[in-house]
Amino acid sequence: MPTWSRNQWYVAAYSAEISHELFARTICGEPLVLYRTTGGDVVALEDRCVHRRYPLSKSHLIDDTIVCGYHGFTYDQCGTCLAAPGQKRIPRTARVPAFTIVEQDSLVWVWIGDNDRSDEALIPRAPWLDSPEYTVVRGMEPLQARYELLVDNLLDLSHETYLHGGYIGTPEVAQTPITTEVDEDAGVIYVSRHMDDAACPPFYAESTGITGRIARWQDIEYHPPCLYLLHSRIAPTGDLPADDGTDDHAFHVEVVYAITPETEHSTHDFWMVARDFALADQHVSDFLAENNRTVVLQDVVALDVLETIVEGEKEHYQELSINIDTGGLAARRLLKRQREAGEAAPEPTAATSTR
Ligand code: FES
Ligand SMILES: [Fe+2]
Repeated sequence: MPTWSRNQWYVAAYSAEISHELFARTICGEPLVLYRTTGGDVVALEDRCVHRRYPLSKSHLIDDTIVCGYHGFTYDQCGTCLAAPGQKRIPRTARVPAFTIVEQDSLVWVWIGDNDRSDEALIPRAPWLDSPEYTVVRGMEPLQARYELLVDNLLDLSHETYLHGGYIGTPEVAQTPITTEVDEDAGVIYVSRHMDDAACPPFYAESTGITGRIARWQDIEYHPPCLYLLHSRIAPTGDLPADDGTDDHAFHVEVVYAITPETEHSTHDFWMVARDFALADQHVSDFLAENNRTVVLQDVVALDVLETIVEGEKEHYQELSINIDTGGLAARRLLKRQREAGEAAPEPTAATSTR
């Protein structure tokens, strides 16, 4: 049984990935074909011809229609079949499901569940990703592990000390206690760790130019199921924000992940690093891109191993949780709540349609 809720927004792709070409990606077990119309809209259809199941992603885009590469059934951007070979009459059931898409903050969001339950206003924001005040590097790594393992990983950053030593990990990360808060109404989890006198890991020393010890703040904001924000503040030790909240001397890095289930045992691990300094410095961009990818791949290796262990273990294995796990445990609870709400019949007044 899948452990995700279909009635949620998920990042299907980066905006820049989708052009006027057919693009295949599986989201929550659903094979999709995506493309951008000549008018600029992103379309997502089920990647399976109604005739003999041929993948539409291996077919042809002609203007804004897909012509099936097997026998030529032709579909418009709503998934309606416009033409079938050898006959004028189009069967009434000749239609592939179309999915609701919203493009925002340089991300392509898809609603994989019931279209009439989608509400665009519920998509969490990550405005740094297409702001001229930030420079962004990004990537996506395929993870052969269930998405919950990545959620667990990202909500407990004490692992940086051990899994990412020499990159982003220093002893202070694991040594400094966290605070965890849950906004039950909004369904958002906050985990904070403020290190006021910490070693500067190479990731930040090289990119900011700071040579001494630092105040390093990590403020996580997780919007289950898909969007994870890490507000990272780096400043020389003792350099605090001003009383009015301005913080011009500090370096700010917004680390964003989109955690999108592919199958029950694999995940699209979208990662982005937005910074508000050295905006035009290509060396800093290259350094952060390469280093962050290395760090993400360290997690990928660990989580791929964990997946094989979880898959093979006997039922009811009892994990041991400690203080560092409070964010991850809260995430499991909210994800379960979303699943249960997603499976329940929709309340008539709660459903809105965006398109
Ligand atoms: S499988 Fe698509 S037209 Fe036959
Ligand atoms: Fe990690």
